[in-house]
Formats: sequence, C-alpha cells, structure tokens
Amino acid sequence: MKILVTGGAGFIGSAVVRLAVSRGHSVVNVDALTYAACLENVASVADSPLYAFEQADICDAAALKRIFDTHKPDAVMHLAAESHVDRSIDGPRAFIETNIMGTYEMLQAARAYWTEAGKPESFRFHHISTDEVFGSLPDDPAVKFTEETPYDPRSPYSSSKASSDHLVRAWHETYGLPVVLTNCSNNYGPFHFPEKLVPVIILNALAGKPLPIYGDGKNIRDWLFVEDHADALLLVVEKGELGRSYNIGGENERTNLELVKTLCGILDAKRPKASGSYADQITFVTDRPGHDARYAIDPTRIRAELNWRPSVTVEEGLEKTVQWYLDNETWWRALQDRQGVGERLGKAS
Ligand SMILES: NC(=O)c1ccc[n+]([C@@H]2O[C@H](COP(=O)([O-])OP(=O)(O)OC[C@H]3O[C@@H](n4cnc5c(N)ncnc54)[C@H](O)[C@@H]3O)[C@@H](O)[C@H]2O)c1
Repeated sequence: MKILVTGGAGFIGSAVVRLAVSRGHSVVNVDALTYAACLENVASVADSPLYAFEQADICDAAALKRIFDTHKPDAVMHLAAESHVDRSIDGPRAFIETNIMGTYEMLQAARAYWTEAGKPESFRFHHISTDEVFGSLPDDPAVKFTEETPYDPRSPYSSSKASSDHLVRAWHETYGLPVVLTNCSNNYGPFHFPEKLVPVIILNALAGKPLPIYGDGKNIRDWLFVEDHADALLLVVEKGELGRSYNIGGENERTNLELVKTLCGILDAKRPKASGSYADQITFVTDRPGHDARYAIDPTRIRAELNWRPSVTVEEGLEKTVQWYLDNETWWRALQDRQGVGERLGKAS
C-alpha cells in the first residue's frame, strides 16, 4: 500500500513511518518541520526506496494538490497537528490553523484526488485523534471512554482536535469520502519530544533538576507505548470498517505521581544516584488551568473487531523508554535548545 503520512517527522508519525516501511509499505511523509519535528526520527528509513519526504504545510492547498498528484497514495494517515496542551493555552491560534484549517485542506485535497481517480472504494482517509476530545472522567474505574461517549473537549488543543474529528465525519457523510478515525490515549516511548511529561521527567532527573508534577499529581492518564499505537493505526487503515471510529488504549491507568515514581524507580536501578532516589527531586507545581482529572479508554471495539492487543505492559514500555533516552543523548540534547523547551508553559493568567 502507498500511504501518505502527515506529521511523519513527529513523535507518533515517525513511529508509523518506521513501522510501515518495515512492513513493506511505501510512505510519503508530509511534514512542515515545526519546532516539534525531527527528521532524525525517520533516519533509519530515509534511504529506503519505499520512503519519500515532502516538506509542506497542510494548510497549503496548492502544495497538497501537487503532492497527491505526484505520489498517488492508496491511503492517507493524518497525524500532523499542534499537539502540546500547554502551548495551546499560551497560543491557541496555531492549533486552530493546523488542527482545524489544516485538516480541512487535507480533506479537500484528498476528496479532489479521490474524485479524480473515480472514487475508488479502497481509498482510506485515516484521521488520527486523541481521547482528550471526550473531556474528563470521574474517578470510577467502571466508567471509560467508548466510541459512543459524547464529545466534551475542554482545552484549546482538545477542542481543535474535536473540531477536526467532526470535519472528517462530515466529509464522509456529505461527500462519501472513505474515512476511518481513531482516538488514542497518552503515548510514550522513543523519540518523544522533550517537552512532554515522560521525557521531561527522565531528562530532569538525569540533570539533577526538580521533577515538576502539576497540582497534586492525582490526574489519571491511560498510557500506551507508541509502537503499539503505530501497530494499531496500521491495522485500522488496512482493516478498519469504513466510516467507523476506534478507541485505542493500553488499559494502563496511572496517576501522574505513580507514573513519575515508576520512572524514578527504573532510573534508580539503571543509573543510580550517588545517594538517595530520583524521587527525592519530585516537586509539586501550580496546576494546569482546566486540567482534566481522568482519561481512560475502553478498547473493546478494536480488540473484538480487529483483534488488536498491545505488545508490552506499561512497566515494560517505560523500561524500554528510559533505556532509549539513556542510549540517545545526542538526539535529545539537540532538541533542548528549541523555543520553549524546559520552560513552564500554559499557566495562563
Ligand atoms: N502524543 C499523544 O500522546 C497523542 C495521543 C493521541 C493522539 N495524538 C495525536 O497524534 C498526532 C501526532 O501526535 P504527536 O504527539 O506525534 O505530535 P508531535 O507534536 O510530536 O508531531 C506533530 C508533527 O506534525 C507536524 N506539523 C505540525 N503542524 C504542521 C502543519 N501545519 N503542516 C504539516 N506538518 C505539521 C510537526 O512538524 C510534527 O512533525 C496528533 O494528531 C495528535 O493529536 C497524540
């Protein structure tokens, strides 16, 4: 299959690109190379005859038309987005432009290309979204996000992603564009940009800096190893039912404090401090405004219909992740100079 992946120089997109090429798919990676991108993430496939890169902004209709006409993909996997909630609080405009207008331009470009090609039923527009569109759950393990949960986004990031999900469904209902959607929980793993919680904790711990925990650390997230997410996404683009959405999660609910303590324990074992534990560096800081209390995915549909299972537990995945950061210092050091990295963002006023 020839897949046009948007955002393939980012964290999850690059995992999709690497996995797709390793499985023999052709990939066209379309990425604007924003502050969050790193072409090093796809260096392992860059010389493959199955891989092509196009630097383009998904808001640029003319560039998208040229890319579709040149590469003639069988499917689109649309991951390009502004993705950091804290940045969406400080500067929501970029989230509206890329996540909403960019998705609109992608849908229009895909629709024109698909129509020109005679509307093949086999074409897929796979929109990759987040569980954050569903809002915040009560602290009750029996209640989880299903595909039927009503949307209730609460941050500029999640509301822009929710808008894009609605656009994708509308292009299916109105124009018949063959779409599939996925909503996934929090990812972690190799190549995670060093402004997100897991890398921040690992890198601050190693640098002897405070490990910042928002509020009381009791916010719960459902953690999934990025390579398991990439595997689920390829399954959905190949076998997902037309017009259907799938929730993806690892059933690994942890409070932020539990997650951070687990990371500290792994680091204590792998790179012991001269004295004490990395957990001694934990520092509670002012909470994020509108911080959702709990996210948890019910993955019954993707398990039952597509037989998907994550390959690692959260403990195994975190262990692999910590080891990756210990082994790849050159990668993360180069990104620490980028604008905003290492600063406290998203406090609002
Ligand atoms: N990170 C998570 O835990 C998570 C969970 C569920 C869903 N998602 C979704 O998965 C997707 C990828 O997330 P991520 O964490 O890999 O993000 P990321 O920030 O690491 O990467 C985003 C990529 O998109 C590119 N991009 C941004 N704006 C662009 C534009 N206008 N035109 C072209 N390219 C542009 C960036 O250059 C970057 O390479 C997003 O749509 C996000 O909403 C993320």
